[in-house]
Amino acid sequence: MIDFRQAVAELIVKQTKLDINEIEQSIEIPPQEEMGDYAFPCFRLAKELKKNPAQIATEISQDLLEQKPEWLAEIKVAGPYLNFYLDRSSYARTVLTEILSEKEKFGRSDLGDNKNVIVEYSSPNIAKPFHVGHAFTTILGQVIGNIYEAIGFNVIRLNHLGDYGTQFGKLIVAWKLWGDEEALAKEPITELTRVYVKFHSEMEQNPDLEEQAREAFKQLENKEPKAVELWQKFKDFSLLEFNRLYDRLNINFDNYNGESFYSDMIPEVAEMLEAKGLLEESRGAQVVDLEEFNLNPCIILKSDGTTIYASRDIAAILYRDQEYDYYKNIYVVGLPQTNHFQQVFAVLKKANFGKADQNIHVGFGSVKFKDGDFSTRKGNIILLEDLLDQSVAKTKEIIVKNNPEMSQEEIAQTAESIGIGAVKYTYLKNGREHDIMFDWDEILDFEGDTAPYLMYTYARAKSILSKAEYFDNESLDLNLELLTESDEFSLIKDMYQYPEALVQAAEEYEPSIMLRKVSQLARSFNRFYHNTPILRTEDEQLKKARLALVYAVSIVIQNGLQLAGINTVERM
Ligand code: ARG
Repeated sequence: MIDFRQAVAELIVKQTKLDINEIEQSIEIPPQEEMGDYAFPCFRLAKELKKNPAQIATEISQDLLEQKPEWLAEIKVAGPYLNFYLDRSSYARTVLTEILSEKEKFGRSDLGDNKNVIVEYSSPNIAKPFHVGHAFTTILGQVIGNIYEAIGFNVIRLNHLGDYGTQFGKLIVAWKLWGDEEALAKEPITELTRVYVKFHSEMEQNPDLEEQAREAFKQLENKEPKAVELWQKFKDFSLLEFNRLYDRLNINFDNYNGESFYSDMIPEVAEMLEAKGLLEESRGAQVVDLEEFNLNPCIILKSDGTTIYASRDIAAILYRDQEYDYYKNIYVVGLPQTNHFQQVFAVLKKANFGKADQNIHVGFGSVKFKDGDFSTRKGNIILLEDLLDQSVAKTKEIIVKNNPEMSQEEIAQTAESIGIGAVKYTYLKNGREHDIMFDWDEILDFEGDTAPYLMYTYARAKSILSKAEYFDNESLDLNLELLTESDEFSLIKDMYQYPEALVQAAEEYEPSIMLRKVSQLARSFNRFYHNTPILRTEDEQLKKARLALVYAVSIVIQNGLQLAGINTVERM
C-alpha cells in the first residue's frame, strides 16, 4: 500500500533541497479535517531560501498543483502551512482493497527480518500463589511477543521461573514435617503455602528449624537426590497450577528455564568478571562497583559463596546471547525491579559485553481495586483465578439478560471470552507504567473503553453482514470509490493507521498504542452506523461498497483484538 506521508514528502522534496527524512518527520497530521489530511510547515525552508514561509508555501503549491498525482485532491496554502487533501475515492479504493485482500494478515509485515527477539514474562515464583500482579507481566508480555511476531521478528518466549533460593530449604523442611500428599494433589499451591507459613510461625518457638533449612538448601545446592526430588516435586505441582491459568488465558512459552537453570553457570560469570578485574571484595562478598553508573555495587557472590538473584540474571544474559544471538532481550517485569535491572545491565556494560544495550526492562505499574470491589479468599492477596471467575460470572449475568434465547452452552462460552477479554483489556489499555484500578462497573461497561465494547462492535458488524447475506467473494467487483462521506473517510483513515500503530506499539513496548487505534476505529464505526443507512442504502453499488467497508472494519478490529489475546464472539 502507498505510504501517503512518504508520498507527500516525495512531492515536496522535489521542490527543495531538504532531505526526505527531514521532510517526512516534519509533516504533521492537522487536528481538524478542514485543514487537510497532511500538513507541511514551511518555517524550515525560510532560512534556506531566505524568503518568508507564507511566500514559500504559495510558490511550492503552485508548482505542485501542475503535477498533482491522482491520489491527491487538493493542496491549499494556510499561512506558512501547505495543507494536503487526499482524494477520498482513490484513498478508499487503495486502503480497502488492501484490507479485503490481506484479511487476517492486514497490519502484519516482515520489518523484523526474522531477527531474534526474546520476551521474558510471567516468571512467577514456585510454590507461591499466582496473584493479580503476576497477571500484568503475563498478559502484557504475551501481547508484546505477539506484536513483535506480527511485524516479522522471530520471538522467543521465556518464563524465568523463580525456582531457586534459600526459601526452598525452608519448604523442604516444612514439607517433611507437615506436608499432606492428598492436599498437595488437590490444591498444590495452597498446601505448599500452608506449610511454608507454618514454618515461619513455628520458627519463633523453635529456632533450630532455621539451621535445618540452611542444611536442606545446601543439600539442594549439592544436588543430593532426596532434596532435588522434593524440589522437583514442588516445581512440577506448581507448574500444573500455573499451566491451568496459562491455558485459560492462552499464554504460551518456548521454555521454562528458571533461576535454577542458570545457577550452575555462576562460576563462569564470576571467572569472567574476575579476569576483567571487575570483582572486588566487600564485607566478605564479591561485588562489582557501579559508582560510575550512579548505582550501588552489584553483589555477585554472597559471603558464604552462594549465588544471588542478580548473578543468575547475568548468567542468563550470557546464556541467551550464545543460545539465541538475540537482537533484543526484553524483560517484562514490574517497575519495583528497575534498579535491579539497571545493575545487571551496568555490570555487563562494564564488562564490555557487546549486547549491553540490547537488554530492555519493560516495567509496569501496580494493580488496585476499588474499595469493596473484591472479597479475597487469602488475606490481602487477590488470586488471578478469583479475578477471572468473578469477571466471567458478572459477564454471564449481563449476557443472560440481553439474550434470553441463547443456549446454556453458548452463554458459557460467550461469558468466558468476554469476561477474560475484559480483564486482559484492563491490563493493556493504558500506558503500562500507570497503575491499574479495577472497577467492575467500568471494565464491563458495554459502552465504555472496554473489551466488551470492542467485541460488541465487532459482533454488530458481523450481524449486519449476516443480515445482508454478505459473502466475502463479493469483494471482487466493488465500487469502493463511492465511499467519500466524512464518516466513511474517517473510518478508512483509522484502518489505514492501524499498521503504523502496530509498529509504534512494538518500538515503545506499548500495546496500548495499538489498542487505542482499534478503539478509535470502533468509535468511528458506531458513529458511521448511527448516521448512515447501510442495509437501507438505495443505490445497490453504494450498498455493496458500504458492506465491504463494514467487513473491513470487522477484519481490523478482529486483528487487533487477536494480537491482544482477546477472542471475538459472533453475538453477545
Ligand atoms: N520471579 C520474580 C518475581 O516474581 C520475577 C523474575 C523476573 N525476571 C528476571 N529475569 N529477574 O518477582
